[in-house]
Amino acid sequence: MNDSVMKLTGLNKSFINGAGNNHVLKQVDFSVYSGEMVAILGQSGSGKSTLLSIMGLLDKADSGQYFLCDHDVNTLSDYQLSLLRNKHIGWVFQNFNLIADMTVGENLSVPLRFNKSISRVDYEVRIDDVLRQVGLQDKKLFYPAELSGGQQQRVAIARALICQPDIILCDEPTGNLDSTNSDNVMELLSALNREGKTVLIITHDPAVAACCQKAYKIHDGEVASMSPMEFKHAV
Ligand SMILES: Nc1ncnc2c1ncn2[C@@H]1O[C@H](COP(=O)(O)OP(=O)(O)OP(=O)(O)O)[C@@H](O)[C@H]1O
Ligand SMILES: [Mg+2]
Repeated sequence: MNDSVMKLTGLNKSFINGAGNNHVLKQVDFSVYSGEMVAILGQSGSGKSTLLSIMGLLDKADSGQYFLCDHDVNTLSDYQLSLLRNKHIGWVFQNFNLIADMTVGENLSVPLRFNKSISRVDYEVRIDDVLRQVGLQDKKLFYPAELSGGQQQRVAIARALICQPDIILCDEPTGNLDSTNSDNVMELLSALNREGKTVLIITHDPAVAACCQKAYKIHDGEVASMSPMEFKHAV
């Protein structure tokens, strides 16, 4: 349980905008360990999505080090980064990001097509497996618009699982859901964590943070562990 699967040291990220240089992440040191379920809280604009994008290899830091599953990402080519991302990371976003003119089954096949190690003959078995895992085995031929928000998010979680990643990164996964659907999604993510997945969740919702074993906050560009008192206060 003590192996860090994601380890950031001295990480910096800035954006240039009309007002000048916006130094969003400042010398960030942050580790996530195998099998943890972790919440990251922070005000709007504090850099939560920026941090997660870097951790999920969708963006790069300006300086500092990031080790993902013992790989120094600074030394890898874009192609190697995409292989690493596909192997280790599943993404869940606030607005589901499903493709509207594809059925549920077709949406789930998209990451498989980018993963050369999975044979085409296995696609349907994989799709049926993940749909069963999220309790939507009867929705394979539905289009996203024919599903509720909670069901769409469960399809998105199924899509995150389809390449059997060990890490699931969630950016406000319950942000567009009512409390019942939010509870269902959190139960599902907690179950995946109990099965061994490392889960990292950005949230504004104290009830979501309460499902996690640890919480961190981003403030003034720094990531800090929340004390038991702060965590209790937040939840
Ligand atoms: N591509 C970009 N170009 C310029 N500035 C950006 C870019 N992405 C993010 N920023 C800026 O970086 C800061 C952090 O943004 P980020 O999206 O990480 O915040 P957040 O904590 O996720 O906020 P929210 O809770 O509203 O989603 C903001 O000031 C934002 O304007
Ligand atoms: Mg954000």
